[in-house]
Amino acid sequence: MSYFSYQNGALHAENTSLSSIAAQFGTPTYVYSKAALTDHFLAYADACTAGGRPATDSLVCYSVKSNSNLAVLQVLNQLGSGFDIVSGGELLRVLAAGGDPRKVIFSGVGKTRDEMRLALSHDILCFNVESIPELHRLNEVAGEMGKTAAISLRVNPNVDAKTHPYISTGLKDNKFGVAYEDALDCYRTAASLPHINVSGIDCHIGSQLLDDAPLLEALDKVIELVDQLASENIALHHLDIGGGIGITYDDEKPVAVSAYLGRLFARIDAWREEKYQGIPLKVLFEPGRSIVGNAGVLLTEVQYLKYGASKNFAVVDAAMNDLMRPAMYEAWHGVQAVLECNVDAASHTYDVVGPICESGDWLARERVLAVSQGDLLAFQSAGAYGMTMASNYNTRGRAAEVMVDGDNQYLVRKREETSDLFALESMLP
Ligand code: LLP
Repeated sequence: MSYFSYQNGALHAENTSLSSIAAQFGTPTYVYSKAALTDHFLAYADACTAGGRPATDSLVCYSVKSNSNLAVLQVLNQLGSGFDIVSGGELLRVLAAGGDPRKVIFSGVGKTRDEMRLALSHDILCFNVESIPELHRLNEVAGEMGKTAAISLRVNPNVDAKTHPYISTGLKDNKFGVAYEDALDCYRTAASLPHINVSGIDCHIGSQLLDDAPLLEALDKVIELVDQLASENIALHHLDIGGGIGITYDDEKPVAVSAYLGRLFARIDAWREEKYQGIPLKVLFEPGRSIVGNAGVLLTEVQYLKYGASKNFAVVDAAMNDLMRPAMYEAWHGVQAVLECNVDAASHTYDVVGPICESGDWLARERVLAVSQGDLLAFQSAGAYGMTMASNYNTRGRAAEVMVDGDNQYLVRKREETSDLFALESMLP
């Protein structure tokens, strides 16, 4: 179901017209649909409890990096989500949104001592440890605080996720996790450390995966390791299979969450039935994009139309600093005119570009649009890795964010003022 659709010739988010949002809050503005967010989260929650599986047997830890707006976190928290964080900052956001630190897992290759201390002081559920030096540091910090840190090792299963190389993380050349061959040894080390409590195993092989075959292959490799660990009396309490399910940007057909989780649980159940009957093992997920990606659009206004010999340009007021994905990954985002039919404009093929002084500052290429100067456009599928990757390049304040709920629109982040951008700076005496 699309939560962004034309009603009476104008593009709406749920029952709110995007024109009214632009009139009230200006552009560029990210617009999120609360209903979309809710439905996408519930697809996971429902698949986790399908067939009467107890809700306590799994935990969906929304990946905060994909969209960390407090209202987004609040909605997901109210639905019972846990959170996958990668910085102390993300932990503080989760807490500010009312999240329960006992449902927080902390991933990332570069956790600092301060971040470890912060997470330990809030008794988070688990650290996803990505290297041996990190394990030793965590043991030390926990010891200093008189605490024990629950850990998973992020294992790199060396599976090809068959996605963009920049968002593929499970191959042995990636910086993430510990090599599969070294995992057993790392677990032995972890089990010997006094302030570490071995709790689970974790892997995340990449993002925007359309097929679940690589994820199930990774699961099989993880299961093999759990068996080996069990034979050494290292018992695990959870298995974290990461995030990664893709979304439709253009004509991709990603596996449905229910189908993927169905297959995954079938394998896990068969394996446990055979070997670990009655021993509890929770399954954790870390989805980001599949929850929030198609719950948001970026609303922008056409500033100028430029016609050239070989190219036409629609210059808009959003730019690569607002939506990095096209410049960074040549990512494709759909573009819709907010006014369904502009009778005063002829159709032309445009590159839609921003005002930033970089040739890489394009948002869409070769799109047929019938638009006039001043028209509004919406970039689709911009809810994930949109605002969270935004910058202030060219001293551009970051966009406003609005959450729609039915016919209500709420400003959930004010547009940055230029004075905000240099408020932390000072001149020499
Ligand atoms: N868990 C870990 C450890 C991750 O590194 C990521 C994403 C996720 C979970 C969530 O993955 P998802 O379900 O969203 O695929 N900026 C890129 C995507 C980078 C993904 C980074 N890791 C983009 O715009 O496509």
